[in-house]
Amino acid sequence: MAQSTTAGRTRPDLTAGGGLTRRLDALIGRIERAEALDTVAGPVAALEKKLGEKLPWWRNLASGTFLGHPLHPLLVAVPIGSWSASLLFDLAGDRRGARRLVGVGLLAALPTMASGGSDWAYTNGAEQRVGLVHAGANGLSLLAFGLSWQARRRGHHGQGVLWSLVGATAVSVGGWLGGHLSYALGVGVDTTAFQHSTAEWTEVARSEDVTEGALRAADVGGVPLVLTRLPGGTVIALADRCSHRGAPLHEGELDDGCLVCPWHRSVFATDGAVVRGPATRPQQSYAVLERDGAVSVRIADEPRSLRTNPVGP
Ligand code: FES
Repeated sequence: MAQSTTAGRTRPDLTAGGGLTRRLDALIGRIERAEALDTVAGPVAALEKKLGEKLPWWRNLASGTFLGHPLHPLLVAVPIGSWSASLLFDLAGDRRGARRLVGVGLLAALPTMASGGSDWAYTNGAEQRVGLVHAGANGLSLLAFGLSWQARRRGHHGQGVLWSLVGATAVSVGGWLGGHLSYALGVGVDTTAFQHSTAEWTEVARSEDVTEGALRAADVGGVPLVLTRLPGGTVIALADRCSHRGAPLHEGELDDGCLVCPWHRSVFATDGAVVRGPATRPQQSYAVLERDGAVSVRIADEPRSLRTNPVGP
């Protein structure tokens, strides 16, 4: 770790771009490129996806489709909170309370890991490798806290605390990797969140090119769109990049009046609402004006500052 010297004292360099940051970046870069992990990740993810195909209700539940956001980050708070609180109870000398909290964390960890596994199955490459190590660290924490609970139940309090400390270390590593997955690699983020919008009517296609039963690609100011004509003749325009992991929706299909994503089979209604996951966020929907043989679109009253001013202060 790089060091800085202030008034004769040496301190670790914790600034961005300092020694610690560089080492962590190098470490995570090695994980991202570790193709050997694919031999494990691929078959496990395929199994998880098969489960999601067989049980769509499970996929909707585990992904958080019913919430409009991934479920995993919400559940994570319970085991981490319980296990952290148990260490405070240890410090306060409340052994019974600490053991109970370790147990609560163990119970809460199971659905938490199940929902994370569902999110992870629909990632690829670097995301999937980091996700695998993230799951491994969290699996280790589950094991360590399980051993802690068992030791405490048998009256071996000191041993229980030691296992808790091992578990807390593992869950911290898992949390760091989980943060990287979300904030650096964008897993769980709506892939259209940073796309520009336009309040001006902009022509995107000729009327005769937008037909019923077909999906047509277009773009508005560089933002990809998918257009189709409904049976009544109305044209709809949605963001073409799937909000889940960015698939081009115009390469998907229309089924029962809905758009089906070509990559992971999320289903979107014609107003962009998610009918079936793993997507959790609706597709951005544009207002459409068809006049004089031209199809024009705009997004009215777009309140998201990242879309209206993506590079602003
Ligand atoms: S990219 Fe995953 S459902 Fe569309």
